[in-house]
Amino acid sequence: MTQLILAIDQGTTSTRAIAFEKALEGGLRPVAVSQIELEQHFPRPGWVEHDAAEIWTATLQTCREVVRKAGGVGRFAAIGITNQRETSVMWDATTGEPLHHAIVWQDRRTAPITAAMSAAGEEEMVQRTTGLILDPYFSASKFAWLLDAVPGARARAEAGEVKLGTIESWLIWKLTGGASHVTDATNASRTSLMDLRMREWRPVLAELFGVPLNALPQIRGCADHLGDCEPSLLGAPLPIHGAAGDQQAALVGHGALKPGDAKITYGTGAFLVANVGAEPVTSTSRLLGTLGYDVGGEAAFALEGSIFSAGSAIQWLRDGLKVISESRHSEAMAQELKDNGGVYMVPGFTGLGAPWWEPDARGTIVGLTRDSGPAHMVRAALESLAYQTRDLLDALAKDGAPRLSVLKVDGGVTANAFAMQFVADICEVTVERPAFQEMTALGAAKLAALGVGLIDDLEDHPVEAPARWEPRMSGEERERLLKGWRGAVKAAIIAAQ
Ligand code: G3P
Repeated sequence: MTQLILAIDQGTTSTRAIAFEKALEGGLRPVAVSQIELEQHFPRPGWVEHDAAEIWTATLQTCREVVRKAGGVGRFAAIGITNQRETSVMWDATTGEPLHHAIVWQDRRTAPITAAMSAAGEEEMVQRTTGLILDPYFSASKFAWLLDAVPGARARAEAGEVKLGTIESWLIWKLTGGASHVTDATNASRTSLMDLRMREWRPVLAELFGVPLNALPQIRGCADHLGDCEPSLLGAPLPIHGAAGDQQAALVGHGALKPGDAKITYGTGAFLVANVGAEPVTSTSRLLGTLGYDVGGEAAFALEGSIFSAGSAIQWLRDGLKVISESRHSEAMAQELKDNGGVYMVPGFTGLGAPWWEPDARGTIVGLTRDSGPAHMVRAALESLAYQTRDLLDALAKDGAPRLSVLKVDGGVTANAFAMQFVADICEVTVERPAFQEMTALGAAKLAALGVGLIDDLEDHPVEAPARWEPRMSGEERERLLKGWRGAVKAAIIAAQ
């Protein structure tokens, strides 16, 4: 009987469970999927929250459905988890109930906390130790805010009665009926509390942010045994044998396992992760030092460029501006125009991430004329994906990373051929999209399959040929467009100051 892996992919906009089986021709392939959308809460401008209880219910429901579709829990060998990173949860250790809505990675409410730390000269120490710059994006300031917002939480956290964690930690707690309070090292690398090289919490950072160490989960490897599922939930005590943040899981899914390999996932945001090998690299161009993965104590480090709004810009065109009824219509609309008409969109809806790090920047559109119409908005949003990617690749080059021969892409927007050709043109790189798109879930499944001994190494890849886009734009045209983009970014930053 084939043995399956149950991969849980808890993302910003939805929760998915996917059953993977080992394919005879190599790699893991999906055999059943279940997905539930997640409600977004925007209580104030710049604030973004999720209901952690809703996330747990959806996780359990999608897992149960996939187990049923795939023929019962007896067919499964292990669970692997991947998740939206940095999103911060605080819960009661006795009742297992969240004490507040989770604060989502996009939330900017703690910008004054990190700005005060920067002003006090703490950034150099934080970056040297964690690889991260000081920004409200990361979990530490969100944890501190939660502890202060709920009366009595801080004292109870110090007494061990209140727990903190990112989404995988919350889900593992719930799946194990409160038996495991653990995180994996990639998720921990996004908190601003972990020493990146040593992969352990740093007391000096916990003190700086005001987060009690005993409220934090234990840090484990990405293919470690993280606990056993409480038998009444799925019908058997399935071991949880892998976990990684979603961007790191996608790195593993793409098989970007060697220094110089890189991938970018275009989801709600877009995240470029470049494998730099066995030693961490400190960025001098405002990229993030982070962990690629830690398997059995062997680590691959990475540099990351985080773009906060990518697919969310297309969602805004659909749900906010209502200029398209379905995201897929954006491709034909963009192609209706012979060029962008000088219109540029900087999608700083939740501030600007790498390499600008402007938490107060907001979405900006420049170059409007009386000729500009809905198609210009659509085209400008799609083009912004490529310009932002280019900014990250330039930063990577400044940090001394080798020039990429291929940029591996995945995520919803990669179905848009106009956008992918534009990325190839603006970034001067071959863009490659694998035939199977679920790189994040695949990465989590690979880690769990490795952990439980179903595969021998992470090199076990699917064999279908990828789609490719080659650069074909003239250098002159590229420079003209990049000049327009840089002017638009400058306008967005000036408006924020
Ligand atoms: O850092 C945030 C990232 O992990 C969220 O990813 O795919 O849920 O938008 P996604």
